Amino acid sequence: MSRILVAGASGLLGSAVVRALVAAGHEVHGTTRRADRLPLIERLGGRGIVMDALDRASVDAALAVAAPNIVIHELTDLAGFDFAANNRLRVEGTANLVGSMLAHGVPRLVAQSISWAYRPGPTTAGEQEPFATVPETGAPAFEAVEILEREVARVPHGVALRYGLLYGPGTWYAPDGEQTARARRGRIEATTAWTSWVHVDDAVEATVLALDWPPGPVNIVDDDPAQVDDWGPRYAHAAGYRGTPTISSRAPGRAASNALARSLGWLPRHPTWRTTLADPATFTPSGEAP
Ligand SMILES: NC(=O)c1ccc[n+]([C@@H]2O[C@H](COP(=O)([O-])OP(=O)(O)OC[C@H]3O[C@@H](n4cnc5c(N)ncnc54)[C@H](OP(=O)(O)O)[C@@H]3O)[C@@H](O)[C@H]2O)c1
Repeated sequence: MSRILVAGASGLLGSAVVRALVAAGHEVHGTTRRADRLPLIERLGGRGIVMDALDRASVDAALAVAAPNIVIHELTDLAGFDFAANNRLRVEGTANLVGSMLAHGVPRLVAQSISWAYRPGPTTAGEQEPFATVPETGAPAFEAVEILEREVARVPHGVALRYGLLYGPGTWYAPDGEQTARARRGRIEATTAWTSWVHVDDAVEATVLALDWPPGPVNIVDDDPAQVDDWGPRYAHAAGYRGTPTISSRAPGRAASNALARSLGWLPRHPTWRTTLADPATFTPSGEAP
């Protein structure tokens, strides 16, 4: 049994991770900026702490209360599609968290990263591949991720989980998600043309397993990376759009490999997005194909 602090315990991944860790018998504290969300964390079986990751004193206070031996970093600021705010949180929030962990002698960190920052190329990328540079992609988001991962590597035992694009309940690609609303209007907007997907349940399972993984980055993606030209029309059609969707992507991206995660014992229960994201039954209230 470990004492674990989940930073970002009210978010999509954070809340599911709290529930899974409690079920596995760990003592869990979870953070939110909002006092009115503390009951949500308590209902999941965790102990809630108000913390603003952009305020180092607030982070220090949270670590002092939780006294964890492991921190799980699930901080993102994506609810409003504000990518600048998310980048700031990745850079400043991660620096505060890691600085505070080192000051408190917390040796182990599992942090959320992304799988689509690799330099474009024809092969499926393993974790040793370099990240794309800004001139290559025009996407400064990747710079913030690189800084985040450098911070994670300062922790004696820091694991960066490079999640694929999340789909499943609660995500932008759920029946009530923002991207699905766009897809129903015939608009598919991808960050990168190459996309590696991961179902949210598989991402949560990997996060719990990663408590025992060696330090370093690990791709958490399904077995079936695809180009947006492949998944976009299938997803739009499954969501109910009957024409040819307008597809855009901001960078070429790169397919990612899950060989390392599999070798560490993670097995995706949803090995391909095709059976869910491309299935009309996913998007009808009854779960029946229209
Ligand atoms: N790999 C991916 O594809 C990926 C990854 C993550 C998210 N998403 C998408 O983004 C959507 C929103 O995800 P989400 O609910 O996880 O994100 P979110 O609503 O942005 O919240 C994530 C967590 O971070 C916390 N947080 C944000 N800013 C903070 C700060 N300055 N200090 C401390 N905590 C802070 C939030 O706490 P508060 O309670 O204080 O707001 C929350 O617990 C999802 O539906 C998903 O589709 C995708």
